[in-house]
Amino acid sequence: MTGPEGVRPPGPVVAPKAAIHTEALTKRYGKFTALSGLTMTVPCGEVFGFLGPNGAGKTTAVKLLLGLSHPTAGEAWVLGAPLGDRESRRRIGYLPELFRYQDWLKAREVLQLHCELLGLPRARWLAEIAAALDRVGLVTRAGHKVGQFSKGMQQRLGLGVALLGSPDLLVLDEPTSALDPIGRHDVREVIRTLRQRGTTVFLNSHLLSEVEQVCDRVAVVDHGQIIAIGPLDDLIGGATTVRLRVTQLTTSAEEALRRFGAFTVEGDWYTFSPAVEEDVPSLVEEVVRLGGRVHGVEQRRRSLEDRFLQLLGERGEA
Ligand SMILES: Nc1ncnc2c1ncn2[C@@H]1O[C@H](COP(=O)(O)OP(=O)(O)O)[C@@H](O)[C@H]1O
Ligand SMILES: [Mg+2]
Repeated sequence: MTGPEGVRPPGPVVAPKAAIHTEALTKRYGKFTALSGLTMTVPCGEVFGFLGPNGAGKTTAVKLLLGLSHPTAGEAWVLGAPLGDRESRRRIGYLPELFRYQDWLKAREVLQLHCELLGLPRARWLAEIAAALDRVGLVTRAGHKVGQFSKGMQQRLGLGVALLGSPDLLVLDEPTSALDPIGRHDVREVIRTLRQRGTTVFLNSHLLSEVEQVCDRVAVVDHGQIIAIGPLDDLIGGATTVRLRVTQLTTSAEEALRRFGAFTVEGDWYTFSPAVEEDVPSLVEEVVRLGGRVHGVEQRRRSLEDRFLQLLGERGEA
């Protein structure tokens, strides 16, 4: 945030209600810029999706927010405190992208260890551990050793650890990447419950459908830069996608269809995204006039994935 002459006003610029606020946050590794000028605000109580392909800079951003690595430039405030503040760190639950608990520890012991690391009063441990196990569906596994856990169960345990002490902010780095569809569903349920309680969730993911199902707002990052940010509905818009299954269309006839907007062809399927709903009858008419045979027409609301691919495509062309 800068003043009228581009000069920073004195004093804190953070909105007191924001769970996360960053200003031109940048991380370079040597000459390589992993995160470039990240400016964003995540209000309290929001489920925020930080979305991008592998290598986009998502984990880099999370490590900066948690004070695990230091920015090359820029500033940020988390739960109202500057980066690296130890008191606010206690109010953040964190599920790292890569972690490994000691194989020889039982699930309950891992949770105990983290209660201790968090500095939770001993009298609260039992209740905290029971609640965490319950919320991630590991109650019957409390006495099992981590070494016997599947990847999915380890991921649940990681989520349980992140939930200890009822954090105000939960930072989840690819929480569902190791999970099967049921596990993914369960994580979404946990996130929905947290939202109802007013917990802020910062969710890193390259899995668009995950983000789409639980997030209030998303930022799309690519090559260390935000390329879109906003409420999901605004990002996706009201646009629809129309798919036609067409045979016997010549390449020159295909060209004539461009006036209905950009489309992609996969096998017999022609996908127009975004498409204008009102155009569908004339589009079908035109295909037939051009000698094509229409076997099917499908229409659906454009998904975040469609929009995401479009955004990345536009960047590639620019
Ligand atoms: N410690 C590091 N040293 C050098 N490059 C790094 C380091 N950590 C991450 N990177 C690079 O920064 C980019 C962003 O990485 P990362 O934030 O892990 O991406 P994401 O989490 O979106 O997949 C990648 O190209 C990665 O190779
Ligand atoms: Mg990552």
